[in-house]
This record gives sequence, structure tokens and C-alpha cells, in this order.
Amino acid sequence: MRFSALILICFSLGVSCKREAPQPHPSILHEAFADRFLIGFAINNQQVRGNEADAIAIVKKHANSITAENDMKWQNVQPAVDFFNFTAVDAFVAFGEEHKMKTIGHTLVWHSQLPNWVHNITDSAELVAVMEQFITSYAGRYAGKIHGWDVVNEAFNNDGSYRDTVFYKYIGPRFIERAFELAHEVDPNAELYYNDYNMTFPGKRNAVIAMVQNLQAKNIRIDGIGMQGHWTLTHPSLEEIEESIIAYASTGLQVMITELDISVLPRNENPYRNGLPESVSNQLAQRYADLFRLFIKHSDKISRVTFWGVHDGQSWLNDHPTLGRTNYPLLFDRNYNPKQCLYSILEVSQYK
Ligand code: G3I
Repeated sequence: MRFSALILICFSLGVSCKREAPQPHPSILHEAFADRFLIGFAINNQQVRGNEADAIAIVKKHANSITAENDMKWQNVQPAVDFFNFTAVDAFVAFGEEHKMKTIGHTLVWHSQLPNWVHNITDSAELVAVMEQFITSYAGRYAGKIHGWDVVNEAFNNDGSYRDTVFYKYIGPRFIERAFELAHEVDPNAELYYNDYNMTFPGKRNAVIAMVQNLQAKNIRIDGIGMQGHWTLTHPSLEEIEESIIAYASTGLQVMITELDISVLPRNENPYRNGLPESVSNQLAQRYADLFRLFIKHSDKISRVTFWGVHDGQSWLNDHPTLGRTNYPLLFDRNYNPKQCLYSILEVSQYK
């Protein structure tokens, strides 16, 4: 089309033919969402120990909250009945303090990454005593230094029934109440959370809400509900996520998206060993943009969004459900370069 014809069309449509000056992009994640919610990353044991400078630089730049991916789990903290090892947790807490980040304690009572000596207990009174000693010694030691604890992790099945863990089996549902009571007793200023995956499944959602209401009725402190965001390009739908955020917030608690990563792989295939095709990279950027638009819409209910890892190379999804996959779920690539999905999130942060 000739230039004069273009001018004529613009004129008759009443639009300016001048190109809009590009809006300056925010470039730092936690600043981009400063008035909405915290931005966190899970950091792995090498990073906690200060051994991966490029990853640490990303965390320092973009996060105002951190979670230890594995180091704070029971198996690592009390590997034997008479032996606590706080070295890694001390390093993690010191990192958070040094960089003024909100540190999240992940996690106190969870059936997985539980030492065998706890798994093997079959006596109810003994298990209660062990759980009490663990929470008292551990959460007590870091009182005033942890912003919030994932007190109980993954206690329900997808249909809302209790997961058949050693805690449920030998203590019953009361293990949840006791864990929250005690965590509050030993660290009265820490926020206390329940955290789980598949939190958009209606059965699990109803059970978690009923559990929260039971704690509230008994005046036991609980501050927030963590929806682990281990999602895919298509599941769960935005509608299911939105409905769940609203349902959890109706308890009066804060909602957190605690373990966000988006798998791009079909469940039983590993098609992108040599790189992610542009079309899939676009889909990933679109998915992250859609999610963050939703989080912005509900930022009055959401207090934190934490990515489950810093870069694609460290993601647990490279080994799940089978070892040796090449997944691309996070915001930075294996060489620590920002991906298109990081820019898509920064872009939507500018929306009202
Ligand atoms: O540290 C050992 C290492 O010494 C050994 O050589 C190697 C051999 O496999 O294993 C290493 O331990 C692995 C550990 O991650 C540290 O990399 C374990 O096998 C592996 O099972 C463990 O996986 C972790 C998983 O929790 C365990 O359940 C993932 O890193 C961690 O991302 C994942 O995180 C969980 C959240 O805590 C709760 N929600 C679900 C989420 C994803 O599964």
C-alpha cells in the first residue's frame, strides 16, 4: 500500500499513524509486583551453600522471598532420632537475612522425605512425642527468623480423603491440629500455612476448606493456604484456578501460589532434548502471562507467588515422572538466560 493511501485510511478511521512509543518495561520481578504479592524462588542445596553464583544472582535480583527446595525437610534436619543437623538451614536463614528476603520454612510435617526411623514408628504416643520434639526443637530454634512455615504438607488425597500417612494412621486427623498448635506456641510471630498440590480438584478443595474451618473453630492459628502450582500448558484451566483461589480466600486466609512451574512435556514423552521449539516457547509465555493476569486480578487474596526453582536445569520435572527428561518449566534457561516467559510476566505486571 502506498504511504498516501495509508495516511488516508488512518485519517478516515480517526487514528494516529504515529507508532506508540514503547512503554518502559519493569525489569525486576519483585519490583514489578511490589504492591501486589511477594515473589519467591525455591533454591536447591548447592545454591543454599552459595555454590552457583549465576543462580544466586538471579535470586538476589528478582526475589523477595525464598524457600529451600529440600534442605529444610525432616529427612535432612533430623536424619537420626538423636541427631539434628541444622547446617544447611542456618545457611538458608542467613542468606534470607542478609538479602532481606522473607524465608519460608518448607516443611514441618510431611509424609515424604521423612526419615525411615519416623516412618517405622507404629506407636501413637511415641509418634506424637517425636512430632512434638521435632517441631519444638526445629521451629523453636528459628523463632523470629522464619516468615512463614508450611506446617503441614499434602495431607489429603485428590478426592478429599485423608492420605494414609504414618501421621494419619497412628495419630488420626488430630495430627494437623497438634502441628499447628505447637508451631504457633514455639514461634508465635510466624505465619502458618497448609500446602498441597492438585488444589483445584473439588474433593481436595472441600476437604482443605473443612480442615481450615475446623482449626478456626478451635481457635488454632492458621494464616494461609498454599496452592502448589505444578501445572502444565493446559491444566488446570484458568477457570478452575480462579474458582479455587476464590474458594480458599473465602475462609478469610491468604492464598499463595507456592510451587509454580509449568511442564511443557507430554506425560510419557521427551520430545525437546535439543531445545524448545518456538511455538512451544510462545505457548509457555502465553500460559505464564494468563496466569499472572489472573493473579493480578486476585492480588487482594494472593500474598506470594513462588517459582519451584531458579532455572530449567535444576527443575525436579527433569526427573519426573521418569528420569532424564528435558523440561523447560521455569523463567530462566539452563544457561541462566531470561526466557520469553519472564518477559511476558513483566509485561502483564503493568496491567491494572
Ligand atoms: O541428594 C541426593 C543425592 O545425594 C543423590 O545422589 C541423588 C540420587 O538420586 O538424590 C539426591 O536426592 C534427591 C533430592 O531431590 C535432591 O536432589 C532425591 O533423590 C529426590 O527424590 C529429591 O526430589 C525432591 C522431591 O521434592 C522429593 O519429594 C525434589 O528435588 C523437590 O523439588 C521436590 O519438591 C516437592 C515439594 O517439596 C513438595 N511438593 C511437591 C514438590 C515436587 O515433587
